[in-house]
Amino acid sequence: MRIFGTLIVGVSLLAMLSCGGGEKEAGSALQSDKNPVIENIMARRSIRKYKPGTVDRKTLEQIMLCGINAPNGQNKQSWEIRVVDNPATMEEIKNIMASAYPEEEAKRVTGCFRDAPVMVFIARDLAYDFSAYDCGLLAENMMLSATSLGVGSVCLGSPVRFINDNPACAPVLEKLGFSEGYKLALCVGFGYADEAPAAKPRDVSKIKFLD
Ligand SMILES: Cc1cc2nc3c(=O)[nH]c(=O)nc-3n(C[C@H](O)[C@H](O)[C@H](O)COP(=O)(O)O)c2cc1C
Repeated sequence: MRIFGTLIVGVSLLAMLSCGGGEKEAGSALQSDKNPVIENIMARRSIRKYKPGTVDRKTLEQIMLCGINAPNGQNKQSWEIRVVDNPATMEEIKNIMASAYPEEEAKRVTGCFRDAPVMVFIARDLAYDFSAYDCGLLAENMMLSATSLGVGSVCLGSPVRFINDNPACAPVLEKLGFSEGYKLALCVGFGYADEAPAAKPRDVSKIKFLD
């Protein structure tokens, strides 16, 4: 029975490999098309082109609630979250960042938000060694729930670097108002997708079952 199971997983993984790990193929390779949770996981993709218009507060609240229900070390909830859904506030943040960098870099710097209509800034508690993982799981719960609600998302590390690494971006952090001892760790953009990117291939050889 175990050999049979191993064979099925092996054949499925091989099938995923041979078809480049595309989202549909990856789902059907494990015969889980009818499982809405797995379908949702396989359907999520990073969205970098959004339709104009925001996501309503009720939907955002649902997504945030799913976020904070992520598993987290010792239930310390070692995160703080700031949701920016006001375009004027986002513009203010971008303007601070643009003026903090040389003029020729300004476009690249402000472009790091991928023009997502809603930006969520996540900070981690520096006093807890697992807080970065907590924040990652929080972000993934947000993105998966967003997918299930038809909302596109993108996890963003580059704004974190641009903001944390340049003292001239301090006013952004002041605006976000995280508590003492918390550091910006991740951003997640949300909005309605204006593109449908294909799944990037995944390397299934990274998975090894030990006997
Ligand atoms: C920690 C982290 C940081 C990321 N930073 C960026 C980023 O700065 N800009 C960006 O466009 N995408 C960023 N991404 C998205 C990845 O590029 C994307 O998840 C990856 O290419 C796989 O594609 P998929 O999300 O469509 O499956 C980031 C993702 C993670 C998890």
